[in-house]
Amino acid sequence: MIELGVNIDHVATLRQARLGIEPDPIYAAAIAEANGADQITIHLREDRRHIQLRDLKLLRETIQTRLNLEMAVTDEIITIAKSIKPDTVTLVPEKREELTTEGGLNLNIEGMKEKIADLKNSGIEVSVFIEPSTEMIKLADKLGADAVEIHTGLYANLKKQAEIEAEIKRIHKACKLVKAAGMRVVAGHGLNYKNIVRLVELNIITEFNIGHSIISRSIFTGLAEAVREMKILVTK
Ligand code: PXP
Repeated sequence: MIELGVNIDHVATLRQARLGIEPDPIYAAAIAEANGADQITIHLREDRRHIQLRDLKLLRETIQTRLNLEMAVTDEIITIAKSIKPDTVTLVPEKREELTTEGGLNLNIEGMKEKIADLKNSGIEVSVFIEPSTEMIKLADKLGADAVEIHTGLYANLKKQAEIEAEIKRIHKACKLVKAAGMRVVAGHGLNYKNIVRLVELNIITEFNIGHSIISRSIFTGLAEAVREMKILVTK
């Protein structure tokens, strides 16, 4: 069974545009869950450009599926994660000036093994968002990660068919390595209603985290319909 994590950051992006109270990501999470989301994913960024601490706290109390917190590997956010206890944390790189996460995390960070152990000891599953590279996957395993989320941003941005095929091969090889190491195989970033199909067909990725395309479509179809359509594609 392939699961769908719905990233609701951009509901909060819209709210923050007016610094008001609507649209509320808490409401979005409930609609996503009622229409097939297996998980709600949010990114509490250092600059708080979309999701706020209030959202994280309320979502922890209200969501009925699972909460996946994307986070930078900083002491501030690790302390927050350990107190709120999402079901999963996904460790991501974070640069202040970027529009969105631009690539996988380089796991060669001092103290990474201890930080992962610290989060796991708090009862939180630890996933790492990395490029589909053999070196990074081996390192993720060595560091004790429970899951690997393969960065699909490059795949999503490619236009030439030959390059798309080569990247799918690279992602497939990476997924096999992750699975062989006993870690959960997750993928995300830049996925939409078209490019998801080939990755579902690989039949090895067990969870997709998708945000921008679902929230974009929801403007025209409503969030319930947008989630339902993606759920159908993911579980085909
Ligand atoms: N997975 C990770 C680790 C991410 O950082 C993001 C973006 O927040 C996503 C998935 C969702 O990406 P998109 O919004 O492009 O679907």
